[in-house]
Amino acid sequence: MKLILLGGPGAGKGTQAQKLAEKYNIPQISTGDMLRQAVKDETEMGKKAKTFMDQGKLVPDEVVIGIVKDRLTKDDVKKGFILDGFPRTVEQAEALDKITDDMGIAIDAVVNIATSPEVIIERLSGRRSCRDCQKVYHVVYSPPKEEGVCDVCGGELYQRDDDKPETVKKRLDVYNEQTAPLIDYYKDKGKMVEVSGDNSIDEVYEDIVEALS
Ligand code: AP5
Ligand code: MG
Ligand code: ZN
Repeated sequence: MKLILLGGPGAGKGTQAQKLAEKYNIPQISTGDMLRQAVKDETEMGKKAKTFMDQGKLVPDEVVIGIVKDRLTKDDVKKGFILDGFPRTVEQAEALDKITDDMGIAIDAVVNIATSPEVIIERLSGRRSCRDCQKVYHVVYSPPKEEGVCDVCGGELYQRDDDKPETVKKRLDVYNEQTAPLIDYYKDKGKMVEVSGDNSIDEVYEDIVEALS
């Protein structure tokens, strides 16, 4: 199973990718998580990426394409994978086509999680993420057993720097301008599956599993 999860900020890509990764026993490949890890590790790439991320802008294509290309050489992707937050521009999608062609594989489906802008602010202002394993929580919709502590690894939960309302607004604009065109890109390839992201986490999950079967 080789999947792409498409959707705006707060659509639930990370939440659903984590559930699907467990169900199908395949890795979640989140460019956002990998970039945040590089920021935390203070690598050269991380330092550069941070300036874009803090403004809600996309990190340059060549950087992100390089990260994904490298990740797809690892052994664990042989069974399949879930791309969460990549591709995000037509240039990235074209690069991915080339990478998968060279690997002799093909993406099976692209799931578009369509979410109304109204729900996004509420979702992102209540989001908490684990500093260590990056698992995603929400103070109301998906709370941890113990406040501030990750259920899975015991790590500290924190609020992302780019979840401030003004940065969220910018991320939404960037999504509409640069990422939304990918919906037609993949529709034209006959790979698009659409679900409503406005429903509950479990309902969205069930819709995706049904659409994939
Ligand atoms: P990234 O980390 O990918 O951020 P994003 O696309 O804005 O998406 P989010 O992670 O904010 O939302 P999500 O859809 O994963 O939602 P989640 O499941 O967490 O990217 C961050 C930055 O990195 C970018 O701005 C850019 O700078 C850079 N970057 C990353 N990839 C890049 C690329 N390919 N090219 C260039 N730059 C790139 O859910 C949100 C909250 O809602 C959670 O609290 C969750 O518990 C809750 N929730 C989820 N679903 C539901 C539901 N159905 N009902 C109720 N609550 C829900
Ligand atoms: Mg995410
Ligand atoms: Zn954790």
